[in-house]
Amino acid sequence: ALTSVSVQAATDNSAINKIQETGELRVCFEAGYVPFEMKAKNGQFIGFDIDIARHMARSMKVKFVPVNTAWDGIIPALQTGKCEVIIGGMTVTPLRNLQVLFSDPYLEIGQTVLLSPELKGVVKSYRDLNDPKYTISSQLGTTGAEAAQKYLPKATLNLFETSADAALQVKNGKADAFVYDLPYNAIYAAEHKDSVFHLNTPFTYEPLGWAVRHDSVTFVNFLNNYLKRIKGDGTYQRIYSKWFES
Ligand code: ARG
Repeated sequence: ALTSVSVQAATDNSAINKIQETGELRVCFEAGYVPFEMKAKNGQFIGFDIDIARHMARSMKVKFVPVNTAWDGIIPALQTGKCEVIIGGMTVTPLRNLQVLFSDPYLEIGQTVLLSPELKGVVKSYRDLNDPKYTISSQLGTTGAEAAQKYLPKATLNLFETSADAALQVKNGKADAFVYDLPYNAIYAAEHKDSVFHLNTPFTYEPLGWAVRHDSVTFVNFLNNYLKRIKGDGTYQRIYSKWFES
């Protein structure tokens, strides 16, 4: 029976096939995206996405295998088979959707601004940053970088491999503002009260989804039904509260 499943599987469900063959759910993410995925002091990966991924693997009775990947190379990592799914707070964008399939959104967020405290009261909206005298930082390959390019084309934009390095620019006075996802900025602002000011009204609309390869249509069906189930049975809320409401 297994053989016939694999023969059919080779054409349209390589992800599900691979998960069943290996007994592993390999998940790509980029640790450092608080509170979705972080590396704890003991080396363990923790966070909202990690808890969902672990629960997802358990629901399939397979092993969860974390694959920590640079954000800039995360879609190539999926495409070349280093993992079967990206669970990494990835915004569903039309351009990405030409490269990968997305599950239904599991969270909706938007871009906000972490401002240098000196600009508090001077820069009242992200729009005020569209000026050649300002320097903006964000993370390479993110929708934050994209939003800065689109809405703040007159400012200087400096991009960094990690969000931590990009946010640090503002804290160190090397950038006037950091453009990034709201949940990350909210936590960063709470932890660095004196060195950044959060303009916390989101100025983009961004659904976040789980990404799989184009040949994994059957896996998308699994993911959407899994999402529906955890939203209905309280699992999603429990994990959400743990990371976003404490
Ligand atoms: N939502 C943003 C994007 O899709 C940022 C995601 C960053 N995620 C991460 N794991 N570093 O571009």
